[in-house]
Amino acid sequence: MRDVRMTDIFAHHIAQKYVTRSGLVHAITVAYYAYRFALEQGADVDSAAKAGFLHDIGHHTWYKNGKWDYELYRQNDIHAIKGAERAHKLLIRLGENPVKAKEISLAILFHTDSYFPGGEIVRTPLQSIIKQADEKDEEPGGSHHYRKIEQNRAYRLLERLDHKIDQVYEKKIS
Ligand SMILES: [Fe+2]
Repeated sequence: MRDVRMTDIFAHHIAQKYVTRSGLVHAITVAYYAYRFALEQGADVDSAAKAGFLHDIGHHTWYKNGKWDYELYRQNDIHAIKGAERAHKLLIRLGENPVKAKEISLAILFHTDSYFPGGEIVRTPLQSIIKQADEKDEEPGGSHHYRKIEQNRAYRLLERLDHKIDQVYEKKIS
């Protein structure tokens, strides 16, 4: 039994504000990739889909004179740290299992090494899955953050993903 569904997350005002900011299409695409990789690699599909959907929820908009400033972003970005915290708060508010909320939050924290000054991170399978899923949807110049989608269509895609996750869980139980 899942405590929180993808559509619950999507409907919450925190997700509406911040997931939309960094690109709803990218968030949904990464959620689907993460689900698929988790299924292939025997990881938890529910945690993977949630971490995939929320991985960029910590983004700040580094604009200067109306344009994205990569230099500011590169120097000051902590979106994975902020995202881990924001996603955790959101999940707990929605009633997520705290063990799962922590696992998802850590997968968001380690989904990129763009903000680390170097050195190797040893990732858990779930943490690697989110990194791979994100990289699979990256486009040059960051344009993956700007693709548009209607709210209704986004909701339906997440509903479909919920259904797929339910099916995996049902199979595990039976
Ligand atoms: Fe991303």
